[in-house]
Amino acid sequence: MNLLVTGGAGFIGANFVHQAVAEHSVTVLDALTYAGSRESLAPVEDDIRLVQGDVTDADLVTKLVAEADAVVHFAAETHVDNALADPEPFLRSNVIGTFTILEAVRRHGVRLHHVSTDEVYGDLELDSPQRFTESTPYNPSSPYSSTKAAADMLVRAWVRSYGVRATISNCSNNYGPYQHVEKFIPRQITNILTGRRPKLYGSGANVRDWIHVEDHNGAVWRILADGQLGRTYLIGAAGERDNLSVMRTILVLMGRDPDDFDHVVDRAGHDLRYAIDPSPLCAELGWAPKHTDFEAGLHDTIDWYRDNQSWWGPLKDAVEAVYQERGQ
Ligand code: NAD
Ligand code: DAU
Repeated sequence: MNLLVTGGAGFIGANFVHQAVAEHSVTVLDALTYAGSRESLAPVEDDIRLVQGDVTDADLVTKLVAEADAVVHFAAETHVDNALADPEPFLRSNVIGTFTILEAVRRHGVRLHHVSTDEVYGDLELDSPQRFTESTPYNPSSPYSSTKAAADMLVRAWVRSYGVRATISNCSNNYGPYQHVEKFIPRQITNILTGRRPKLYGSGANVRDWIHVEDHNGAVWRILADGQLGRTYLIGAAGERDNLSVMRTILVLMGRDPDDFDHVVDRAGHDLRYAIDPSPLCAELGWAPKHTDFEAGLHDTIDWYRDNQSWWGPLKDAVEAVYQERGQ
């Protein structure tokens, strides 16, 4: 297949492209914002075409889509704290960007997989047995998740109104190599590696449902190959953990005292808990996560950051300066 991967220089997209080149011809469309990096694609740079451009650029998108058999749409502004500070780029990239992709796939009849997040469902109580399913009502809390929810709604409308051949996936929190150091797990690992104290928002009771990025991408492949057009699939790997436990596990795995961190200002509107019920994906598409031992996955991720300081080192001071200004 000729695959067009938007956002392929970001965390999940780059991991996806690393796998895709074995069997497909890949074009990456990425604006190379602060979150995207050519270095993330260095292992496959001779095997792909990297186009630096914006998903809101209709002429460019239309041209690239016309050459593709399928589009996997990862490109987005993704960091909740940045959305709280300045929502405008989220509206542009996530909503107008998805609209631009939809118009191009509609025009050329190209298959689309739209990558989205569990945050569109809002949050769950800490002590409830509930998990998100495909029929949970959308109830986004943040400027980030509301733009992802809007994008999902556009995809659904384009499927119904124009017969666009699209699927959607809503996945929980990813971890693994090439994740930007602004995000929770890489931030704490690289804080320790640079002699800073790790930072926990609020009490750390908030729960996230962690999944290894390779498992997320494995599910995207299954959906792209055999997913039912028009469907939404939830992707999760039974990885619920509160932030305090994740923080302590990182500290222990890195040979530190488990309480050697700071509590900092909580995130505004901080979602309490996410939890995914992935059973339709498992039952219908035979998907199952491979990285079921979270500590082992975290251990490998810590090793990756230890071994790849040249990838994240140049970003670290600027990210921490922004956090310091916000009291986080
Ligand atoms: P990321 O921030 O690491 O990467 C995003 C990429 O998109 C970057 O390479 C950036 O340069 C590119 N980009 C941003 N705006 C663009 C634009 N206007 N035009 C072209 N490229 C643009 O993000 P990620 O964590 O890899 O997330 C990828 C996708 O997966 C997003 O759609 C996100 O909502 C979704 N998602 C992420 C997670 C997670 O835990 N990280 C979980 C579920 C879903
Ligand atoms: O659930 C999927 C979502 O996961 C994706 O859609 C988003 O793009 C992705 O950024 C992620 O969102 P979160 O807000 O859950 O991830 P983040 O890494 O920013 O934070 C994870 C949790 O850790 C959250 O409860 C806030 C907390 N946190 C975060 C940072 C950066 C801290 O306690 N300390 C920190 O320094």
